[in-house]
Amino acid sequence: MDFLKFKNKKLYINNIDLKKIVKKRQTPFYLYSLDQIRKNISLVRSSFKNFNPLICYAIKANSNLDVLKELKNNNLGADVVSIGELKLALKAGISHEKIVFSGVGKTYEEIKYAIQKRILSINAESINEIEIIDKISKNLNKKTNIGIRINPDIQAKTNKKIATGNRANKFGISISEFYKIIKNKKKFNNINIYLLSVHIGSQIKDFNVYKKVLTLISKILTKLKKLNHIIDHVDLGGGMGIPYFKNEKKFNFNKFGELVDKFYKKEKIKIIFEIGRFITGNSGVLISKVIYVKKIKDRYFIILDAGMNDMARSAIYEAFHEIIPLVKNSKKFSKKVEFVGPICESSDTFGIYNDFSLLTENDYACITNCGAYGRTLSSNYNMRPFIEEIVFDKNLYKTVRLRQKIEDLI
Ligand SMILES: Cc1ncc(COP(=O)(O)O)c(C=O)c1O
Repeated sequence: MDFLKFKNKKLYINNIDLKKIVKKRQTPFYLYSLDQIRKNISLVRSSFKNFNPLICYAIKANSNLDVLKELKNNNLGADVVSIGELKLALKAGISHEKIVFSGVGKTYEEIKYAIQKRILSINAESINEIEIIDKISKNLNKKTNIGIRINPDIQAKTNKKIATGNRANKFGISISEFYKIIKNKKKFNNINIYLLSVHIGSQIKDFNVYKKVLTLISKILTKLKKLNHIIDHVDLGGGMGIPYFKNEKKFNFNKFGELVDKFYKKEKIKIIFEIGRFITGNSGVLISKVIYVKKIKDRYFIILDAGMNDMARSAIYEAFHEIIPLVKNSKKFSKKVEFVGPICESSDTFGIYNDFSLLTENDYACITNCGAYGRTLSSNYNMRPFIEEIVFDKNLYKTVRLRQKIEDLI
């Protein structure tokens, strides 16, 4: 998070003291840095410069319209998983030719809409879905370009709740079934299978697992040639991890780029990625106020006004998001502190710290690295409204999504 810095013990974004921003608004709120997003995109692009892939941003990571417009202005496409995300991508101005549609449970209505909008590819995840796409295409008198997402049966080293490439996971089509579909493709007159996709999971820190994926895809492409079937695009999904802990090893994008470049030179095929977290993860923070500091025997509970409904990753995945104060105090807590939210669940906790800078009621805390799977995983649990979102561009900032009104929830 290069955009956050302490100056004289106060937390700044670029030249702006965050304390000034919180004074004028209701907490909690999300804040995203467009400068950080641009920096992340340029790192990705420079690692991939030799093969210039289409980068379809995985909208599920952050679906803020202003963020998406910025991504569109940087020539990114979109990976969507619902009709809602598809409509949002189009509203952000992303061209239909740069949109891929993933997901195991696309409905009839969603498929019809995607076909009518002529998106780049509907990535089918079952034979049932392929049959439906074929049928709807026939009804619409169209030939639809589709992709098939394979399940490579490759285990990514990550939290099991976000690993998706194992055969026990619900995602994709097994390799043997994929070949059967290709052999029987004449049954489907209204589709053209022109893309192969794979996504083995999220928050992957070691790029080496992608070697296995690329070797497998090369084998599949060779076999497809024998079967006289030509694929135009390979969609390698997303999953590149970010550091959440201080001094944590970074995903080596340069080395990863070299690996994919070798594959590209061998296969001479168009490459797509569906990257989410790496592009927006470290660009967002959640700013929250301390409601109470509650003392018990062995610790202080710092009860924040942000809860697991606002940022669910800690509760769902036990994910660590470093918390920093908005103003550093030279005094420290004498005992450990646990940051928690106001939600009626013990899973509503944001982590335990030793030697944390002293905080009192009405002080503020910043929960870091919340730009991906933060707001998008949030909910109205406990009848709590969705919170405000602010976008920072250099030293200018504005509210881009208002806090929801409680009355609208009732
Ligand atoms: C199909 C698909 N593509 C891309 C992504 C994006 O992954 P990440 O945000 O880790 O890059 C996901 C997220 O899980 C996904 O399910």
